[in-house]
Amino acid sequence: MSIAERFLSTRGLASVEDYRDAARRRLPRIAFDYLDGGAEDGRTLARNTTAYTRVFFAPRVMCDVSSVSAATQLGAFTSAAPMVVGPTGLNGLFWPKGDELLAAAAARAGVPFALSSASTSLLEDVRAAAPKGELWMQLYIQKDRRIAESMMRRASEAGYTTLLVTVDTPVHGKRDHDIHNGYRLPLPITAKLLLDLLRHPHWAMQIALHGSPQLTNLARSLGESPNLERQATALARQMDLTLTWRDLAWLRRHWQGPLLVKGIQTVADARLAHQHGADGIVLSNHGGRQLESALAPLEMLAPVVEAIGRSLDVYVDGGVRRGADVLKAVALGARAVLLGRAPLYGLAARGSAGASHVLSLLHDEMITTLTLLGCTGLDTVGERIAEVSPVSSAPITATRKLASL
Ligand code: GLV
Repeated sequence: MSIAERFLSTRGLASVEDYRDAARRRLPRIAFDYLDGGAEDGRTLARNTTAYTRVFFAPRVMCDVSSVSAATQLGAFTSAAPMVVGPTGLNGLFWPKGDELLAAAAARAGVPFALSSASTSLLEDVRAAAPKGELWMQLYIQKDRRIAESMMRRASEAGYTTLLVTVDTPVHGKRDHDIHNGYRLPLPITAKLLLDLLRHPHWAMQIALHGSPQLTNLARSLGESPNLERQATALARQMDLTLTWRDLAWLRRHWQGPLLVKGIQTVADARLAHQHGADGIVLSNHGGRQLESALAPLEMLAPVVEAIGRSLDVYVDGGVRRGADVLKAVALGARAVLLGRAPLYGLAARGSAGASHVLSLLHDEMITTLTLLGCTGLDTVGERIAEVSPVSSAPITATRKLASL
């Protein structure tokens, strides 16, 4: 543990929400809003978390809960819990070498880590930081298909087992908070930002010491030396808008391992993913950052699982803030959840120790909840659901919260 991490102690941090507050205090607004915010008015962002508050349990008692485990099989990997540290871009904005620290934290927690192709560390360096970790690779598909082909080749050579192809980002969602803050890459040096940096000296010092984070992974597959402006343009503007289901066959030619399609939001698309040979899907609205007014992924889970049975592995992301939320997703048919913001709050607040602490908080909450449900493992949680009420009108809290910071 570094001196900085020791200084930023765990005292009083008991939940993901506590870490969110700590991350808000440590990051300048431009970085925190990028992490925390959603598209437009934040309706989908709010709905993602609200959906979990509508699920209630019916616990059983006298079940011998002397030995309880949340372990589960994710493909060939035995995971300590049904959770995956999901792919998020620009992690170096929250802590230097953010991707490497998250991968190592996931390995320590015994769960997979999925690296974003928009990472700020090379995928080879992330492998070196978590030599025994279960690593998955996320892919955006750009017009120049050679970038994706290079990324798949490099990931395969570095021992990444599973490919996640994100399909909900043909264009970037509209994020008002980023417009208000003048967010772009490289970060604009304005009087407002300088003032913000003065108020967040620890973060500012780290950036001064380590330099502005770069999209190095993308740069390597573009065959370019890192140039943030060009990388950001490539990422934002060069998405392949012609992508269709037929392209799964092309991906299959370049990727031998399991392939998950991430960003599915309807039963119809889940069926198509199945028909086109995906091994699994991630029900996701990109953390409420893309299409505003999309339903919460948790709401789609039961209908999708009912339609396609267990023929596909169905993962879900968006809005998980508690161990009980992970169990609710599993109870409704998910193989596991992907965590986006939760470990990032930990990373942003306290670096590697914070990311590890968030994962252990979630794991501990899961074990407590399983025990109180009268379940010794995940196989019986589906029998403990008492009620799933519809999300009628989610309060628009997200935008208000951001505005009042
Ligand atoms: C990138 O995927 C983002 O949501 O900012």
